[in-house]
Amino acid sequence: MTAVENRTTDRDFDGPEHQADLAELYRDFDAAGMTPLWTCRGDLQPFHPQPRAVPHLWRWSTLYPLAARSGELVPVGRGGERRAISLGNPGLPGDPYTTPTLWAAIQYLNPHEDAPEHRHSQTAFRFVLEGEGVWTVVDDDPVAMRRGDLLLTPGWHFHGHQNLSDSPMAWLDGLDIPLVAQTDQGFFEFGREQVTAPGAPERSNSERLWGGPGLTPVAALGARPQSPLMAYRWVQTDAALTAQLELADEGVAGTLVEPGHAAVRFTNPTTGGDALTTMRTEMHRLADGTHTARTRTTASSVWQVFDGGGTVTMDGQARTLEHGDVFAVPAWTEFSLQAAGRLDLFTFSDAPVFEKLSLLRTEVSA
Ligand SMILES: [Fe+2]
Repeated sequence: MTAVENRTTDRDFDGPEHQADLAELYRDFDAAGMTPLWTCRGDLQPFHPQPRAVPHLWRWSTLYPLAARSGELVPVGRGGERRAISLGNPGLPGDPYTTPTLWAAIQYLNPHEDAPEHRHSQTAFRFVLEGEGVWTVVDDDPVAMRRGDLLLTPGWHFHGHQNLSDSPMAWLDGLDIPLVAQTDQGFFEFGREQVTAPGAPERSNSERLWGGPGLTPVAALGARPQSPLMAYRWVQTDAALTAQLELADEGVAGTLVEPGHAAVRFTNPTTGGDALTTMRTEMHRLADGTHTARTRTTASSVWQVFDGGGTVTMDGQARTLEHGDVFAVPAWTEFSLQAAGRLDLFTFSDAPVFEKLSLLRTEVSA
């Protein structure tokens, strides 16, 4: 018999005296800033993840017109910095967060408008659904933005945007804002008021130096935590996905994630790991009629339909997918895709964070 049991043997646990003593103990705990684990273990240590974020889909046909209206009504300038409108998860009221770690937004720039330079500890990227004519200037290197391109702005790099065209342009911004905010890691600094993309070059300096496949400049050997290549061009992404499916059709093994499902990850050429430290970025292509396996993972993710249509099923609820639609997949949500015609999707997730912490778990069902 333990000491604790010795001391409590004579108590009447159902009696009023015990209940009064217990209530007093809890009041004293509260006053002392103490919380007994036995009253909240299920919340603190659930048997599996219990995300507050919910599966949710935003229609591009809703997002774009609203962003365009903000283009008419809201100027871009110092202070607000960007005409970016985030997609807040309905399960996370009060926070403009798409998942507990990820922030997805639509950013809109009018013709001949620019967004001033700044830098922050948050890591960012742009994914271009449609349009061209904007240059993102990253540490003085102008990077052209065109349809299907992924453009990186790793943490603490100065960046601004300039629209040199006669058309407005909108794109998807992805950042780790919630992760950085909730862990008190945020730093921010203003740069120049005016951003310029001198010469508006077709290829940025980073692409000229790092854009050769498998070719590392000997003057810059060594691993870097994030990719020094700031642009991943659609023409290359498209060719890689096409090749995976063609090779599979030709009977070459090991080219696809699963039958009919091609995918590429955007990687850091100095390590082969993720291009960004806190977010995984990938492009997926499903051949017509492909059903993906039902999966769930402790990473949360955001997806955007780049081309084609189909269906996404999250925790048993099916939603149709159309051009530009964005959807959030919270941690441990059972998730599958079905293509109606060819379906191309861009996705980003917080997987690298949990992989580094040995917390990432994934289950795949048949
Ligand atoms: Fe920024």
